[in-house]
This record gives sequence, structure tokens and C-alpha cells, in this order.
Amino acid sequence: HSATPEGLQLSVVYQPQALGLGHAVLCAREVLAAMPEGEEQTFAVMLPDDFIDAAAAAGHAGSAGCLADMVALHEATGAWSLAVEEVPREQTDKYGVVSLTSQATDAPERMVAMVEKPKPADAPSNLAVVGRYVLPGAIFAALAEVKPGAGGEIQLTDGIAALLASHDIRAHRFAGVRYDCGSKLGYAKANMALALRDPVMAEPLKAWLKAEMAL
Ligand code: G1P
Repeated sequence: HSATPEGLQLSVVYQPQALGLGHAVLCAREVLAAMPEGEEQTFAVMLPDDFIDAAAAAGHAGSAGCLADMVALHEATGAWSLAVEEVPREQTDKYGVVSLTSQATDAPERMVAMVEKPKPADAPSNLAVVGRYVLPGAIFAALAEVKPGAGGEIQLTDGIAALLASHDIRAHRFAGVRYDCGSKLGYAKANMALALRDPVMAEPLKAWLKAEMAL
């Protein structure tokens, strides 16, 4: 019995050395190139340590989920996109940070600049990229030219920045709550948030938490 859903073809590519997120994406170039539409096709990148809880999106009815909304935007308009959210200024050096054509919040705005892990004083905004991207295949040629950037790594951000003049790439302010599962606390919170909504686990978990917290 296969764990892979029917109709899904799974390929695994290893990044032989930790040379950066952009390099990791570049490692998938051959897999995309071997597909019917070739490497020029639009594709998505998900960083699974960013867990987005779309069901927690109170007041955002109509969202099909972060990446699904980004795919729908591409299908409707041809624009590519990255997911972004506002972070406290002092945390800009943990993220890719974007600069937009305007700061309107209703529609996804086109990005004009993007910088990886800027110091708060140098950050163009406090809009940080979280790990969901719908990208044009042209990113591969751009990444092949990118020189090591922040942290000495080949950055996906620098590859995307190189495409901004020629490609319509938008900032998607997603509905929902993001948990940074790259931190142990974020990972624990994500598990709790979902377990507390689970019909089987919620009550026994609450009882256990109450007992633990009374200690
Ligand atoms: C990566 C990206 C960064 C993005 C972040 C989101 O950084 O390089 O632009 O904001 O993911 O989680 P990392 O977390 O791998 O340092």
C-alpha cells in the first residue's frame, strides 16, 4: 500500500552541500527540465518549517489556503508571488524583506525590490517573506548567475530580485497564522494549536495542560 497519493509522481533530489536556499532550488532544475513543459514552467516552493494554519484565519473567509490562493492568482493574472507577513522591525535580519509599489493591503502588490536578512536600519519595509513561493522557470537561469550573498550562501532572494524588473512578482499577504517550526517553541505551538482543535485530542489535552500548569 503506497503512501503516495494516486496520480502523484515523487522525485527526491539531494542537495550535496548546504550552499543556500537558492542553491537547493537550483538542484531541482533537472527534475523540472525533464517534465513535459520543461524548466520554463511555473512551479511552487514550500519551506515546510514555515507552517501556515489557514484554518485559524478568522475574518478571512474565501481563502483556500496560502499556496492555493497564490496558484489561483497566477492562473487568473499570470503574476507570480511570494507569501509575506509583517514582522517587528527588529526581526528583519531573520528574513527576506520586500519593497512594494504601494503599501495597499487589499490586493497583492507588485514587488520592486527584495533583500535577504537586512539589518533593521537597512530594511526597505517590515514585510517579511515566509516560505511559500510561486515562481517562473526563469529563476533557474537567474540562480545560476547569483553570487554568494547573505551568510555566504546562494540566496533564493537574490535570484528573485534579479527577475523583478522583467517579471510581475507580487507579495501575497496570506490569511492565517504562521508558526516558525524551525524553532522548537514554534514547533510546539503549532502542535498545540492543531491538537486543541482536534475533536479527539482537545479535551484530554486540555485536562493534561491544566494539571501540568497547576504544578
Ligand atoms: C529563508 C529565506 C528567507 C525567508 C525565510 C522564511 O531563510 O532565505 O528569505 O524569509 O526562509 O522562513 P531561512 O529561514 O532559511 O534562513
